Amino acid sequence: MSTIETAVLLEREAATGNPPHSTPKIPPFKIRNITIDPPLVLSPMAGVTDVAFRALLKRCGGIGLTVSEFISVEGLTRSNPKSKRQMRFHEYERPFAVQIFGGQVERMCMAAAMAQEIGADILDINCGCPAPKVVKHGGGSGLLRDVPRLEIILRELRKVVTIPLTIKIRAGFTDSTINALEVARLAEDCGVEHIALHGRTKEQGYRGLANWDLVRQIKEAVKVPVSGSGDVTSIEGAFEKWHETGCDGILIGRGAMQNPWIFRQIDDANHGREVFQPTLEDKRALLLEYFDLLREDMPELPAIGRMKQLAGHFTKGLLGGSRFRTALYHSHTVAEILTRIDEYFDHVREGRMYMGEEDAAMEDMTEPVLDSCEAAIG
Ligand SMILES: Cc1cc2nc3c(=O)[nH]c(=O)nc-3n(C[C@H](O)[C@H](O)[C@H](O)COP(=O)(O)O)c2cc1C
Repeated sequence: MSTIETAVLLEREAATGNPPHSTPKIPPFKIRNITIDPPLVLSPMAGVTDVAFRALLKRCGGIGLTVSEFISVEGLTRSNPKSKRQMRFHEYERPFAVQIFGGQVERMCMAAAMAQEIGADILDINCGCPAPKVVKHGGGSGLLRDVPRLEIILRELRKVVTIPLTIKIRAGFTDSTINALEVARLAEDCGVEHIALHGRTKEQGYRGLANWDLVRQIKEAVKVPVSGSGDVTSIEGAFEKWHETGCDGILIGRGAMQNPWIFRQIDDANHGREVFQPTLEDKRALLLEYFDLLREDMPELPAIGRMKQLAGHFTKGLLGGSRFRTALYHSHTVAEILTRIDEYFDHVREGRMYMGEEDAAMEDMTEPVLDSCEAAIG
């Protein structure tokens, strides 16, 4: 492109308000013919990434792929209403993956066909959940300690669905039986078209740090795209992982609850754009929008519960956030929640203290933090 052409393009983009054209440092990637652009995935989180949360996050921008919460194949194939609800998605989410979990090949195949039928772009298999209830029935990370059964499941699933089949795995079942590399090779051989690794073992739960070197090893060992998951909470963290591992995509879970704009910010940095910094008003609007989305989707009581859950993460590090969380914790109606949000943001905007936040010894009362898939399935 000539200098004049470039200047014209930049001028046109400035006039239309579009961000200046630039080549991203980290390119999009493809799962078969589906482009994941930006190469950033909202990591599946049971009890969190339902249709309302994904809508909210998608509106914040920067997400290339959304994934459902993990859905029980037992529930789906026995017409459990909760499992069916968990498959709902918005058209604007596409590409969208349905993640299923289970240990029985027939049930897995039936559920896979259902996911394809409702229009999911991708079918993802959960091979990582550490919850005893899931593992006991051979699902989640239970599949990592029974690789022959995993192979049968993957080969049968491959016959059942025509959409891309992907898996999300952990490093291994126990710290002394790390087999992610072996599982990744096997999965590729079975026709799996994307591998996401959360580099902790089932034994580790959520303790310690995720092992991203395993992501690098898998990326070097297979031809299908590979993404990494675990502990990415900043722009720098994301680029560090990309550079260290050469992985295609990055999944972000808990970091997105604390900062729903993290994907957009990474995408901005990736394109050399000024990084979006939410204002206080953006933060207030986000909480209100989430509450609206929740109430459209569920009865008041669970909506209030979900709202408190996000607020618990989202207000970490905000001025007076601790008092705000406590105030929300004590709110039991929609009106109370809305009043507390208004009060809090008005106080902060006007530079006033929120309910005596100077009191360093105050108690931080919040909903119990939902920090794993175990909590969601009870
Ligand atoms: C509350 C919660 C629920 C989760 N549920 C799922 C799930 O349903 N499916 C799945 O593959 N991983 C699940 N995970 C794991 C995350 O997708 C992710 O791999 C892990 O939290 C590490 O990434 P992070 O540090 O970005 O959160 C869950 C994690 C949390 C905290």
